[in-house]
This record gives sequence, structure tokens and C-alpha cells, in this order.
Amino acid sequence: MKKIIAVTHGDGCGLEVVEEGIKILKAISEYSDFDFEFINAPAGGKVWKDCGESLPEKTFEIIKNSDALLFGAIGLPDLPPGIAETAILKIRQDLDLYVNMRPIKLYNPLRDRCPLRDEFIGKGIDFTIIRENTEGIYKGIGEISDERAESVMLYTKKGCERIMRYACEFAKKNGHKKITSVDKANVIKASQFWRNIFHKIGEDYPDLEKEDVYIDAFCQWLIRAPYSYETVVTGNMFGDITSDEGAFLIGSLGMAASGNINPGNVSMYEPIHGSAPDIAGKNIANPIGTILSIKLMMQESFNSPEIGFLIEKSVEEALNEGRTIDIENKAFKTLTTREMGDLIVKKLINLLKK
Ligand code: NAD
Ligand code: IPM
Ligand code: MN
Repeated sequence: MKKIIAVTHGDGCGLEVVEEGIKILKAISEYSDFDFEFINAPAGGKVWKDCGESLPEKTFEIIKNSDALLFGAIGLPDLPPGIAETAILKIRQDLDLYVNMRPIKLYNPLRDRCPLRDEFIGKGIDFTIIRENTEGIYKGIGEISDERAESVMLYTKKGCERIMRYACEFAKKNGHKKITSVDKANVIKASQFWRNIFHKIGEDYPDLEKEDVYIDAFCQWLIRAPYSYETVVTGNMFGDITSDEGAFLIGSLGMAASGNINPGNVSMYEPIHGSAPDIAGKNIANPIGTILSIKLMMQESFNSPEIGFLIEKSVEEALNEGRTIDIENKAFKTLTTREMGDLIVKKLINLLKK
């Protein structure tokens, strides 16, 4: 099966982690029926410096005509905030990638890197944040002047219904008993609207337990009882923030993957972390968030959960042998970005050959 994959390396450590992702895709290409062709889709801060736009029209055309986009990370510390980052928001908006799927799963070998005591880890951490990805404050409505600034948190009936239905279906498909909606309905009107729609859509899923949690309390529940969550549906900003918190619970920001999805259409896969200027260019960034994003790509865009599963298995096996610095444990070898990628590729090839 021929598939065209657009690749945005981006800035900082994005360049390094994407290279490891490409190695995984090349291994799949070589040892399965998939045949991947890669096309560069330059975007981000460096591109802005070169041509004055962080997402040139030509790049967007490449992405639109591909079967999926592998995205690194963007952002440069010497640019004002938002210049590079607009590229991601524009891709999400213009491709209508309304689902941002962010699994938070603590792999067994990494229990030693979870910052929580055993009693808080409980039976384990394995939930998925389904973040609404095209509305809310991140839609960019508002203005700024010398005297005042406003950002509008806009949610529509259509936007809320589709993300909630997606999340309920996701919970059902994965055999979850409970779906948790996170909002701030005690203060924000847009959240009251969100909550009402959650309850309305929830009526179509009588077998699912529906739970509402306020965002502030949720941030402490995430630390106090992360084992109690399965599917979490939330708005754009709350999903952004809670997924970084969740990522550290599973070992590191470098571990967490995401899929920006428009079901049946071109979708974008990226680690949830940023360009990490503090470690960029040192060959020490953790590539696993990117590699697990390819798991999501195989599962969601290429209808191959089987290969997705093998990627995850390879990651778990590799974590028993070596670690990048962010998740290091003196009992295992400390690996560079490239060494970690190579180890996972080796494991994956063994599994694909079976
Ligand atoms: P960041 O995610 O880049 O880094 C936060 C911390 O996590 C840093 O200490 C970093 O070293 C560490 N970290 C991140 N990725 C890691 C990895 N793969 N392995 C090991 N450690 C890792 O967040 P920031 O510093 O707030 O943002 C830096 C830039 O990235 C900003 O310009 C921001 O806007 C941008 N950003 C981009 C994306 C994206 O492209 N999707 C996401 C978030 C932030
Ligand atoms: C993320 C990032 C982006 C977001 C930024 C860089 C636009 O933080 O993907 O989590 O806020 O969604
Ligand atoms: Mn984020």
C-alpha cells in the first residue's frame, strides 16, 4: 500500500526526534505491505525567518495532498511567542483536525520514573485525553491593543457534539466504563454550554458512566487518582495543559504522543512536547513521543492497529534495556536520541519479521 507522508521537522529538538520517527516508518516500509514515500513540508520558526511565513502556502498544499503528516515541534526562543506556533494552529484549523487524541499510559518498565508513590499509581495509569482541537480560545478570536486585550472562548453546538460523540464512541470501542468531561462550568459560560451538550450526547450512551469534573480539581485528581480515568473529553486549552501534566506522570514530556485527527481525512501526528530549546541539538531528546505518534498514525490513518501494537511493544521492550537522559535509570544504559531510535527499530524489525 503506497502512502505519502508529509514530514515537518520544525525547530529545535523537532529535527532530531522526527529523524527517529522516519527510521520507524522506513522499517515498516521494508518489512510490511506498506510503501511509504516522504515529502518535506517545511514550517516553523526557521522557515518564518527565511520567508516571513511559518506555514508557506506551498507547504500547506503538500500536506493537503499527503496521506498523513508527521510533525516534529516548532518554536524558537529568539522569536516572539506565537510567530512559529501559528503554523500548528493553522494546520489544525484548515484541515479541520477536530480531535486531538493524547494517550497517557505508564509503561511497566517506566514505573520507576513515575513521580508518584505506589499508592497513587494504584492499578496503573492508562487513559486518553480527547482534546477538542479547533475551537475554544485557540481559535484565535480576539484583539489586542495598548489598553486592552481579549481572547474569545468560542464553542459551537456542532463543534461540541462532534467531539463528544467521537469521545463516547472511543470509550465504547475501547471497552471503557466511564467517560470524564473536564470543564469550568462554575465560572465560564462556554463551559456551561459544553457541559449541557456532554449530558445530551451522553444520553445516547446509557452503558457509559458520565462524570463531570472541574479543571482545577481535575489537576489534583490527576495526581491523586490517575488510575481512575479511562476516556477524558475536554476543551482545547484544558486538554493542552492537562496532557503535559499527564506526560510527566508517565515519565517525561518526551514520552507523550498525539494524533490531530479528522476521521477519514489527512491527519497530523506529533509528540505533545515543544522544540525544547534547552536540550536541542545535543542528541539527547527522547524520541518515544514521536515514535508512539506513529503508532497512532498506523492505527488511525492507515487502519493498521496491528503494526501500531508492534510499535508499542518495541518501545516497551527497548525501555527494559536503555533510556534517554530524561527517563534515565542507572540500572539501564543511558542512550542518545539516535541510539534509542535504533534500539526501537531493531525491536520492531524483529517483531515485523515474525
Ligand atoms: P517544551 O515542551 O519544548 O519543553 C519543556 C521541557 O520539557 C524542557 O525542559 C524540555 O527539555 C523538556 N522536553 C521536551 N521535549 C523533550 C523530549 N523529547 N525529551 C526530553 N525532554 C524534553 O516546552 P517549552 O520550553 O515551553 O517550549 C519551547 C518552544 O516549543 C516554545 O516556542 C513553544 O511555543 C513551542 N511548543 C511547540 C509545540 C509543538 O510544536 N507542537 C508544543 C509545545 C510547545
Ligand atoms: C501542543 C502545543 C500547541 C498547543 C502550541 C504550540 C500551539 O502546546 O500541541 O500541545 O497549544 O496546542
Ligand atoms: Mn501543549
